[in-house]
Amino acid sequence: TGMFTYDPGFTSTASCESQITYIDGDEGVLLYRGYPIEQLAEHGDFLETCYLLLYGELPTLAQKQDFDYRVTRHTMVHEQMTRFFQGFRRDAHPMAVMVGSVGALSAFYHDSTDISDPQQRMIASMRLIAKIPTLAAMAYKYSIGQPFVYPKNSLDYTSNFLHMAFSVPCEEYVPNPVLSRALDRIFILHADHEQNASTSTVRLAGSSGANPFACIAAGVACLWGPAHGGANEAALKMLEEIGTVDRIPHFVAKAKDKNDPFRLMGFGHRVYKNYDPRAKIMQRTTHEVLSELGIKDDPLLEVALELERIALHDEYFIEKKLYPNIDFYSGITLKALGFPTSMFTVLFALARTVGWIAQWKEMVEDPSQKIGRPRQLYTGSPQRDYVPVEQR
Ligand code: CMC
Repeated sequence: TGMFTYDPGFTSTASCESQITYIDGDEGVLLYRGYPIEQLAEHGDFLETCYLLLYGELPTLAQKQDFDYRVTRHTMVHEQMTRFFQGFRRDAHPMAVMVGSVGALSAFYHDSTDISDPQQRMIASMRLIAKIPTLAAMAYKYSIGQPFVYPKNSLDYTSNFLHMAFSVPCEEYVPNPVLSRALDRIFILHADHEQNASTSTVRLAGSSGANPFACIAAGVACLWGPAHGGANEAALKMLEEIGTVDRIPHFVAKAKDKNDPFRLMGFGHRVYKNYDPRAKIMQRTTHEVLSELGIKDDPLLEVALELERIALHDEYFIEKKLYPNIDFYSGITLKALGFPTSMFTVLFALARTVGWIAQWKEMVEDPSQKIGRPRQLYTGSPQRDYVPVEQR
């Protein structure tokens, strides 16, 4: 039975051909459909990036306006969705609520079950991109006991999300354009990342022909883990635990200790072995947000900068090619924007939804794709005979 290549963690197995995202881990390059992440983050907006990931080209002005209009028109969720939220405990983790509510969308869109129809595939994609901010804001509102806020069509995608998250009936939140733009950029940075664990999960789920909303719920579930999307939450908790600069060496020593499971959260990446280009843009965005909010000498930022400095000069981290990843700085930024730690991974899921659905669509449209079915190397007992319970 040694006929299969044993590749735990799929470190050397390509599971598909894809035209969406390119990563060169040694050079620190990330391209969406050929465009460098730096240029998209600097000049583009998130919905335009969604269009690019889905259709393969940047939209013309007319295409962009049409796409924005259509996504905006799909932002409401069925009113009955509120009942799903109310079924959860208030103290449920918002990611648990997201797994449930995104999965529940599949029950509302039976038409999407016909994935052979390109039109239906595009509508499902649009609905997901449009509704995920609404669900994310609802998960937040529910967790803090505030009423749900309906989307507002006059706002752009990210400002609308901020409105749904932070407005209350007695006072409307007026999105600050600098902060809105910063969050929009964070969404661009997270939009896709080729065959990471959650995207591979979505593809695997989708390879059986399952409903796309259910497939995205599978992606949300996978993203939740601290080794993946949960790292932004874990990274901020770690910075808070470290607390002050003088305690950094103790934690660095723990991270290096083979007998201690502790890792520096927000450090290291399976593919990036030089630097994570997203982390650079993220660090700049962090400074921008803090300065816009007039936050000077943020103690967490101070710890983060010093930790980064120490780790980048430490032999262990140099030798193992461990660099800050996107999640190292995103937590500080999201916290400054007003989000509690428990919402960080939800924001990652919001942004990654377009990558998941673009990859799902590409897979469904690729005639060479089959149902995903890895093999195994069996290491269990050889065949043996059943023994009645009284004789065991
Ligand atoms: N702190 C200390 N040591 C580490 C760290 C870390 N953050 N990351 C890896 N190492 C060590 C690890 O112990 C191993 O050492 P050895 O070879 O002596 O056993 C070596 O470096 C290689 O690590 P690995 O776990 O085999 O590498 P991987 O490619 O399987 O894991 C990773 C990649 C991102 C899961 C890992 O670096 C990690 O757990 N980092 C912390 C969590 C994190 O920040 N995740 C966010 C990833 S970026 C956002 C996303 O795409 O989700």
